[in-house]
Amino acid sequence: MRRVVASLLFLVGLLLKIIEGGGALKFTREDFPQDFVFGAGTSAYQVEGAAAEDGRTPSIWDTFTHSGRMLDKSTGDVAADGYHKYKEDVKLIHDTNLEAYRFSISWPRLIPNGRGPVNPKALEYYNNLINGLVKYGIQIHVTLYHLDLPQALEDEYGGWVSPRIVDDFMAYADVCFREFGDRVSHWTPLVEPNVNAMASYDSGAFPPNHCSYPFGLNCTVGNSTVEPYIVGHNSLLAHASVVRLYREKYQGVQNGVVGANVYTFWCYPFSNSAADIAATQRSMDFMVGWIIHPLVFGDYPEVMKKNAGSRIPSFTKSQSELVKGAFDFLGINHYTSIYVSDNSNNVPKTGLRDFNADMFATFRVTRDDPPAGKFVPTRMQIDPAGLQYMLEYIKEVYGNPPVYIQENGYGQKANDTIHDAERVDYLSGYMGSMLSAIKNGANVKGYFVWSFLDVFEVLAGYQSRYGLYYVDFEDENRTRTPKLSAYWYSNFLKKKLLKNSKRRSKYAAILAEQ
Ligand SMILES: *[C@@H]1O[C@H](CO)[C@@H](O)[C@H](O)[C@H]1NC(C)=O
Ligand SMILES: *[C@@H]1O[C@H](CO)[C@@H](O)[C@H](O)[C@H]1NC(C)=O
Ligand SMILES: *[C@@H]1O[C@H](CO)[C@@H](O)[C@H](O)[C@H]1NC(C)=O
Ligand SMILES: *[C@@H]1O[C@H](CO)[C@@H](O)[C@H](O)[C@H]1NC(C)=O
Repeated sequence: MRRVVASLLFLVGLLLKIIEGGGALKFTREDFPQDFVFGAGTSAYQVEGAAAEDGRTPSIWDTFTHSGRMLDKSTGDVAADGYHKYKEDVKLIHDTNLEAYRFSISWPRLIPNGRGPVNPKALEYYNNLINGLVKYGIQIHVTLYHLDLPQALEDEYGGWVSPRIVDDFMAYADVCFREFGDRVSHWTPLVEPNVNAMASYDSGAFPPNHCSYPFGLNCTVGNSTVEPYIVGHNSLLAHASVVRLYREKYQGVQNGVVGANVYTFWCYPFSNSAADIAATQRSMDFMVGWIIHPLVFGDYPEVMKKNAGSRIPSFTKSQSELVKGAFDFLGINHYTSIYVSDNSNNVPKTGLRDFNADMFATFRVTRDDPPAGKFVPTRMQIDPAGLQYMLEYIKEVYGNPPVYIQENGYGQKANDTIHDAERVDYLSGYMGSMLSAIKNGANVKGYFVWSFLDVFEVLAGYQSRYGLYYVDFEDENRTRTPKLSAYWYSNFLKKKLLKNSKRRSKYAAILAEQ
C-alpha cells in the first residue's frame, strides 16, 4: 500500500509537470464529438490466462507458446489472470473513466474444440464481465476472433486455409450474438485479417507457422506464395458471412453495429522519385486495400490481381455481393509509419514470389535504415501525423465510412514503466493527430488505447508492456498498479463524466485535490 501511495504522489507531481510543460494538451475531451467514445482494450488469450480451466481447450496460440516459440519462452497460461480478476478489472475500467471497453471472446473457451456444445462456464464468465461493464454504463466492443483459433479445427482441416472455417466461424458467432448481443453495441468479427494472413502463412512467425522456402524459416508445412491470399480470401468470406448473419437475424432487435478491423501503418515514399511514390501506393493497396477494397468495392485492388495473378483467389459474383458493404464501421489498429522504396528491379518477374515480393517494395523505419526484409519493422517510428494521414486517406479513398481506432499504443521494454511519460507523449500526440483528421472531416467515432493493462504480447511475450496499468507478472496475484498514463487518461476523460453524470471517479478526485 505504501508503495502505491508513494508512487501515486510521484505520479501526480510528474503529471502536473507534464500538464504545465511540453506535453501540455492542446485539446480537451470537449473538443471531440459528443457521441465519440474513448476506451482501451485487451484480447482473450493475451489477458485471460486460465488456459486449461473450466473446460477451455487449446488454441493455436497455446500450441505455439508451449512449443517454446516465443523468444522469452513465455505462454499465456496465466497472462494477466483476467479470467479470475475480471471484477477488479471492471472496477479499474470504471475508475479510469473509460467510456468503452474492447475485449475478445475466446472461441476455444466458449465452444471447446471449436464446434458443438456451448461451455456453460464460459457463458457465465463472459456474462459476468459484460454485466459488470453494463452496471457502470461502459460501452461494450467485442471482437469475436483475436488470432486464437481452436487447435482442434486447425488439426481437423487446417483452419483458415480451408473454406470449411466459414461455417464453423458463423456457428460460433451465432452463439455470441444470441447470448451476449442484447448488451454488446459494437461487434468486430476478425482482428487484423491482413496480419493473420501474412504472419501466420507467409513468414510463419505466428501460429500455425505455415511458410515455405525461401520465404519463411523452419516451417514444416505451408506455401508462402499462395496461402496468405487463400487465408485472406477465407477471412473476408467468414467476416462477411457473419455480418450477414448479424444483420439478418440480430441487428433489428439488438441495435448494435458490426465492423471490420485491419492493421494499418502509414507509408511515406522513401524519396520523391515516381518509382518510390508508386511503390508507396502499391504498399497501401497490398497492406490495407487487400481487406478494405473488397469490403467497399467488392473486389481486390487491381495491382494485387495483376502482381499475384492466379495465386490470389477471384471473387465469384455471389462472393463479391456478400463482401461488398459488409461493415457498419471500419476499425483500424495503428501504431507506426514506414518509408517505402521501389523494389521492382530486384524482384523476379518469373518464378515464385510471396506476398512481400508481390508488392515490389521494401520498407524502412527511418530514412537512414537499410531496407527491412519483411513487412514488420522491428523498431517503431513514433509518428502521430501518420494517423491523421491514414484517417484522411480512408476518408478520400473509401468514401468516409465511420472509423474506430481500435488499437493505438506504445510498447516499452523497460522493466519499470510505471512512470511512463513517453507513453503519455505518444498517446497525446496520436490523439491530437486524430482530432486534426476529425476537424478535416474524417468520420472517426472512437479511440481505444492498446492495452488497458500489461498483457502477454504476441510479438514479445512479457518483454514489452503496452498497458495503462502495470501488471506484476512475477506476483502470483498479478497485482495491477496504475501508471502515469492511467492517471493522465482518466484526467483527460473526467470532464465529460463530470458534466454528464456528476460522477467523480477515485482518480479524478485525487487529481482535483492537487
Ligand atoms: C530455425 O532452426 C534452426 C535450427 O534448429 C535454428 O538455429 C534457428 O534459430 C531457427 N530459426 C528461427 C527463425 O526460428
Ligand atoms: C506453392 O504453390 C505454388 C502454386 O500452386 C506451386 O507452384 C509451388 O510448387 C508450391 N510450393 C510448395 C513449397 O509447395
Ligand atoms: C531491470 O532494471 C534493472 C535496473 O535498471 C536492471 O539491472 C535489470 O537488468 C532490468 N531487467 C530487465 C529484465 O530488463
Ligand atoms: C495474494 O493474494 C492472497 C489472497 O489475498 C494473499 O494471501 C497473498 O499474500 C497474496 N500474495 C502476494 C504475493 O501478494
